[in-house]
Amino acid sequence: MAWKTLDDIDLDGKVILARVDINVPMEAGRVTDATRIERIVPTVKDILAKGGKPVLLAHFDRPKGKVVPEMSLRQVLPALSGALGVDVAFAEDCVGDAAAAAVAALPAGGVLLLENTRFHKGEEKNDPEFAAALARLGDVYVNDAFSAAHRAHASTEGVARLLPSCAGRLMQAELEALEKALAKPDRPVVAVVGGAKVSTKLELLGNLIDKVDAVVIGGGMANTFLAAQGIDVGKSLCEHDMADTAREIMAKAAAAGCEIVLPVDVVVAREFKAGAENDTVPASACPPDAMILDAGPESIARIATVLSGARTLVWNGPLGAFEIPPFNLATDSAARQAAALTRAGRLLSVAGGGDTVAALNSSGAAADFTYVSTAGGAFLEWLEGKTLPGVAALDQ
Ligand code: 3PG
Ligand code: MG
Repeated sequence: MAWKTLDDIDLDGKVILARVDINVPMEAGRVTDATRIERIVPTVKDILAKGGKPVLLAHFDRPKGKVVPEMSLRQVLPALSGALGVDVAFAEDCVGDAAAAAVAALPAGGVLLLENTRFHKGEEKNDPEFAAALARLGDVYVNDAFSAAHRAHASTEGVARLLPSCAGRLMQAELEALEKALAKPDRPVVAVVGGAKVSTKLELLGNLIDKVDAVVIGGGMANTFLAAQGIDVGKSLCEHDMADTAREIMAKAAAAGCEIVLPVDVVVAREFKAGAENDTVPASACPPDAMILDAGPESIARIATVLSGARTLVWNGPLGAFEIPPFNLATDSAARQAAALTRAGRLLSVAGGGDTVAALNSSGAAADFTYVSTAGGAFLEWLEGKTLPGVAALDQ
């Protein structure tokens, strides 16, 4: 890896400003998915083991530069303390006297969490003065927030330029997994790209087509590609104004020798609800009053053939309306097959972005993937071939 890691910088006796992403989903004051919190534990423990004092910098939600009490990071303290097995101290502000006093009071072996960086306008503006105020609190900067690295904010980018900096263990794992999947992958490489809209995945498709051998397109996006070929998709989710773009993507893929795998049969229903009465029809025969909610068995078999020949898989987005059974079958069967191939040592599988993790969790396949990213937007931007500012700012 090109970036410095916790192994390359002396942390002993130093205050380590560690940018983490603990922007976790919550309901009624409880964390409903603690994955992001669990994934930063190795970094915090390593900093402690190397004699450093971890001071955690993080955002929560989008308070837009104001103090919004419901967006206080205090509410994740119990989950964070539980995951780390130590009582984490908290500072009411991430800069200034309150922060400095909390850092000064932090004993060896202790961990401190600073209040939401986005309570300050300077954070999202990447204001140099705000970045300097953060930097004054510590000696070394560690970025473990790959999932926020697409933001050029003071706590993800500005401060990295002011202190010796390195990648934390989670950042390292994310970068290594993505490099293995796309920089020098074992071929054939297959991408599964699903989800509702082509419009949000254009740059991603454009970039992947040059890098992978086949792209399996599913979900609502596939309907746009079918419609662009003159197929009537009835009441299906479809971006008709993207027809030209879809045709351009197909032409570009053909020129690049990248196979595009679209559904050949589909599962249609007249209602978008679990258990809705449904039919399986050829992809070209969606009734005018019905909508496509999943790929059919023939499509599932084709996807299985493509996956069984692959050595590397990059997965983003579900292949159907996985959240309302029985329209989860295409997503589940492809995910389970990818998991089995990975377990058998025949496939390197990397997944991430938006709904992907939920889809893979619901099929029970996530645990067997080689790597499941904690990132949403940052994973997509990486697949788009963009440089992530939070990664670029780290010391090489
Ligand atoms: C995320 O939840 O995707 C990251 O924490 C980034 O959050 P943001 O989209 O509000 O910048
Ligand atoms: Mg986001």
